[in-house]
Amino acid sequence: MKIATTLTAAATLLAPTLAFTSPKQASNPLTPSKAFTLPQENGAWAPHSSHPDTRHTILPQELGVWSTSPPAGYVPPPTSHIDTRKKILEQESKGVWPTSPPPGWVCPKPEGCCAEDIREAWESYAPYSHDGRVGALGFVGCPGGGDWCYASSGAATTRSGGAPPSVSSKAQSVAAALAGLGSGMPQRSRDNSGAKKSYGIGSWKNTGTFNEVSSADSFDSLGESSWAINSNSQAPTSIKPRRPIVAGNWKLNPSTRAEAITLLKLLAANFLNNRNTNQSADTPETVIFPPLPYLSDAVEILEGTGIQVGAQDVGPNEKGAFTGEVAPSMLVSAGCSYVLLGHSERRTLFGETDEEINAKLHKSLEQPSLKVILCVGETLQEYENGLLESVVDSQIRKGLDGVDPAVLMNDRVIIAYEPVWAIGTGLVATPAQAQHAHVAIRNSLANMYDTEVAGSVRIQYGGSVTADSTEELMGENDVDGALVGGASLNADSFTRIYDGATTANARKKGNSFSDNHFQPLELTASLALATTNALGESPVWSDRDQCLYWVSATEGEVWRWDLHSQPHRRLINSAVGCVGLLQSSAPGSLIIAAESAILTTTMITPGGDPNSPIPDFASGPSFLCDRPEHMSTTRPNDGRVDRFGNFVVGMYNQYHRVGATAGENNAGLFRLNSQSLHWEEILDYRFRVSNCICFSSDGRTMYFGDTPTRTVYAFDYSPNGPLTNRRMVWTMPSNMPGGPDGAQVDANGKLWVAVTGAGRVVQLNPSTGNIEMTVHVDANPTSLTFGGQNLDELFITTRAPNGGGLYRVKMPYGIRGVPEPEFLLNVSRQ
Ligand code: PGA
Repeated sequence: MKIATTLTAAATLLAPTLAFTSPKQASNPLTPSKAFTLPQENGAWAPHSSHPDTRHTILPQELGVWSTSPPAGYVPPPTSHIDTRKKILEQESKGVWPTSPPPGWVCPKPEGCCAEDIREAWESYAPYSHDGRVGALGFVGCPGGGDWCYASSGAATTRSGGAPPSVSSKAQSVAAALAGLGSGMPQRSRDNSGAKKSYGIGSWKNTGTFNEVSSADSFDSLGESSWAINSNSQAPTSIKPRRPIVAGNWKLNPSTRAEAITLLKLLAANFLNNRNTNQSADTPETVIFPPLPYLSDAVEILEGTGIQVGAQDVGPNEKGAFTGEVAPSMLVSAGCSYVLLGHSERRTLFGETDEEINAKLHKSLEQPSLKVILCVGETLQEYENGLLESVVDSQIRKGLDGVDPAVLMNDRVIIAYEPVWAIGTGLVATPAQAQHAHVAIRNSLANMYDTEVAGSVRIQYGGSVTADSTEELMGENDVDGALVGGASLNADSFTRIYDGATTANARKKGNSFSDNHFQPLELTASLALATTNALGESPVWSDRDQCLYWVSATEGEVWRWDLHSQPHRRLINSAVGCVGLLQSSAPGSLIIAAESAILTTTMITPGGDPNSPIPDFASGPSFLCDRPEHMSTTRPNDGRVDRFGNFVVGMYNQYHRVGATAGENNAGLFRLNSQSLHWEEILDYRFRVSNCICFSSDGRTMYFGDTPTRTVYAFDYSPNGPLTNRRMVWTMPSNMPGGPDGAQVDANGKLWVAVTGAGRVVQLNPSTGNIEMTVHVDANPTSLTFGGQNLDELFITTRAPNGGGLYRVKMPYGIRGVPEPEFLLNVSRQ
């Protein structure tokens, strides 16, 4: 079937009921009232100044600008990554490292740090890689495409053009010696012990100076064997690594069992698919403390998530005539593994004494599988009178009276430091205050027992902890976790706290991120085309055409580039949210989600493709069907063709940053069925700015994020129904500015998200929410996709005012995209 016929038929079918002239434009103050007309200009690439400049009128209202003041708590990095990388490279070539640590670094070792640790700190402060230089060298020198290739042995890099990366020849020869042991790209990395380097698939111990690599060292790529913290060292406080613990104290909430079950299910969804706290000692242990009547629901619903369940209190008796009491053995038989004791609300509201708490603690410890969280903390008055240390010391001594040191060494008791003045008040202690109190608690433990016990016991901080404060609090050496009240009543907040704890833990161990084995790579994308798009978006790579398409949304432009010739654009006379590939034998066939309507076109190079009988403009843009939603306050934004051939389009609140409807959740997520051309709304809630829309390679998982919420979700996706089983994949840490924009999935299932406002693209592991790689972009990125002949280059669109060009970076060995699906218009499917 000829595509032109199809389009005409579709238009005829739908046009009578749907006016082509967009009535909504008349009432939309941001868009001049005008009839929709077919494009008059076939714009070849020209400097932006020759283009009718809509940016000045559109930018302030529609695009808005990110707030000029940073988000709460944002601390700008002391130096740019580029500077740091340069510094590291200089240091590497000289073989000399700074003697003072990078800004903000805190020695993670209890026994103190030496020059070697400082050198390591510099490395992990801004990890570098050969690939970081690919962007800088490979493309600047070779505009036609990068010519890097990695030997599959992982032993060496070869490339055409430019000088090889400057790595120490010894390191390279070690890597070469490893050839044949496996595949992988050469990279410098570190395992989770925070101590060992790897080169390629091998590694070397910290022996001597930086360039001293002993080939006699074990090259177990993930091995733990050659590093252990020196147990003979003098460690006044922390001796062995303590697994972080995050706990949620629901108190007397929620009011009904039905609400509790909803909360539990949301939590389970977040943890079951994307986080499993059982998996490794590096992930925080997680416990929730619901009210007694919900305990068995919690145990049942959270099964398999790794989240444990505890009770908020317990009685000191085993059984008998104690009306209203609960025994520790009963908690165990109900599936609990924790009990909370001595919470300040029990002390102050119910008059619990240290002696009573001690009796409950002893009774609880009789149950071998039950652990206790013992809460201590001073009141505001005590704090102001300088009594913190003495109050806490007395609570610890009395609470733990008669407890054997072995019990503490075996991790049966966790201490929660909860300053009464911070509980439920929103007055969170500063990290320094928390650290100070935790050290005081360790001193008490050291005096009562010894330093080994003091260093073993985990100490949580509690009191108005939120997702935004966790990471910083837990960044302190002696803060081993969080006991969370209010913020644990929201599944996503609690999950974010868990994520913050994971990140903080990884940092403490010397990793920038919590990858299980290797440090992340940092890459830098290079400017490929200086297109000055006002709002570049929606890049899609066509295998059929071997071309990249993308849009400049507010300017109503669709762009095409074959990576060799001059790029080429078409004006649509309407803002454009996104484009998708249209199944057709005609090159350049696209489906376009414009503000005015859904259009199709064939877009080929000006002058016509000698291999194609269709001259440029021969078939479009043509009206295909109406767009979803008829509100002047929304327009199509991000979207992609799903892996079943339908077009998923998310809307955008045009005024989400300004005007009367600012902030209103009025935009929906829709799917255009390619057979019936009917729209179906597939998300059961509204939002402001659809983004991150992309699909796993089997098409059964869809990612989506509402940019202002700074959170990305995964859903189960079916071409025949709504999105289900929402779970949070990633929420941006508070110290990262901006918001998640366009996203794409690679063939390994990793999720790549353009973080607009943060100058980077991040590669996320959707199973853990961890950032595993960062691509730096010297502009404001908006979206991305994989392209090039082997789908192994990342193309990144950017936007004005700080950007507008198209960026690209060659991917490290083993990373590539999944072919982009096509909209199967009227293609019959069995
Ligand atoms: P909060 O409560 O986080 O609401 O301050 C903490 C607690 O009481 O455990």
